[in-house]
Amino acid sequence: MFKSKITGAGHYLPEKVVTNKDLEKIMDTTDEWIRERSGIEERRFAEYGKDTTANMGTKASRIAIERAGLTVDDIDFIIFATLSPDYYFPGPGTTVQYELGGKRTIAALDVRNQCSGFIYSLSVADQFIKTGMYKNILVIGSELHSSGLDLTTRGRAVSVLFGDGAGAVVLSRSEEEGKGILSTHLHSQGEFAEALYVRGPGNFTPRKYYPKMDEDYINTTPQMDGQLVFKNAVVRFTEVIMEALKTNNYTPADLNMFVPHQANLRISQFVQRQLKLTDDRVYNNIQRLGNTTAATIPIIISEMWEKNMIKENDLHVLAAFGSGFTWASALIKW
Ligand code: UT7
Repeated sequence: MFKSKITGAGHYLPEKVVTNKDLEKIMDTTDEWIRERSGIEERRFAEYGKDTTANMGTKASRIAIERAGLTVDDIDFIIFATLSPDYYFPGPGTTVQYELGGKRTIAALDVRNQCSGFIYSLSVADQFIKTGMYKNILVIGSELHSSGLDLTTRGRAVSVLFGDGAGAVVLSRSEEEGKGILSTHLHSQGEFAEALYVRGPGNFTPRKYYPKMDEDYINTTPQMDGQLVFKNAVVRFTEVIMEALKTNNYTPADLNMFVPHQANLRISQFVQRQLKLTDDRVYNNIQRLGNTTAATIPIIISEMWEKNMIKENDLHVLAAFGSGFTWASALIKW
């Protein structure tokens, strides 16, 4: 069987920076509350009519392909993770296939696993490469949350947390033993679906019944039981990281970098303490970008790539937890 390794990474962020102070002007919240509870200082919001979930993914992908030393026509398959698609259907993967402008009609797969979406997608890509079916796969996470958030006091418990952006990596075939994606670990627990969800549009809210439904029921903005999600996240993060390390006979002391999904700085710090990792071995960007859901981890990989923070033979663990519930990890030897 072949191995897979990340050969390029890129990201794209909308220009508009929205600070906590900016949010104070449109809802009953405070910079202090947002910083203390989540660690977030600012986030990016897309410009309507310019940025879309798909075209942000395309921009990130072009950079990833270039950094991999490839061209669009070297890409065999596109996997696109998002919870904020431009169309209800089709998903944005096919739009990226079109926007990249390659000569081939390569396959595009859309993955709906929210905060864990990128690691789930990486795992799918890894399987296609291991079996020899594809050589180079584009794995994208892109989110345009801002158009779907309730940016009023009613939605403040959720809307202050999220930001927009996109990241992408190229996963390529490799024959180097003991390097690349060492393993991926995926989990779900569907009884918690309504702990973090958007009810509609969907089959639970058919339009013809709208007149008979109360406003809360047909709400199309995200709803979250924050404390329940938090309590599960801290347990599952540690579990799924230890699962990845144990599978490969490593311990937390062997890690050069922990790349946590950025839902809350307090969650990352809690897990960091459990793993006894020093600050230089954890990468957080929630302060600058908020929670960018499926885009978070590929944005971090691309930021580390740009800052030359990834060294040959480094051991990194990626981990995510979110809506579904779903959670996942990937262990990478660079
Ligand atoms: O990426 C997907 C996974 N998501 C997560 O992992 C998120 C997990 N959960 C969390 O990060 C935290 O639960 C939150 C950051 C969402 C909330 O922090 P919390 O410490 O759990 O706060 P809370 O929900 O218990 O709310 C405390 C108070 C409430 O007021 P009362 O009832 O105590 O009077 C809220 O109404 O804070 C109020 N509140 C706000 N106040 C100012 C809620 N949102 C806001 C706000 N500004 N934006």
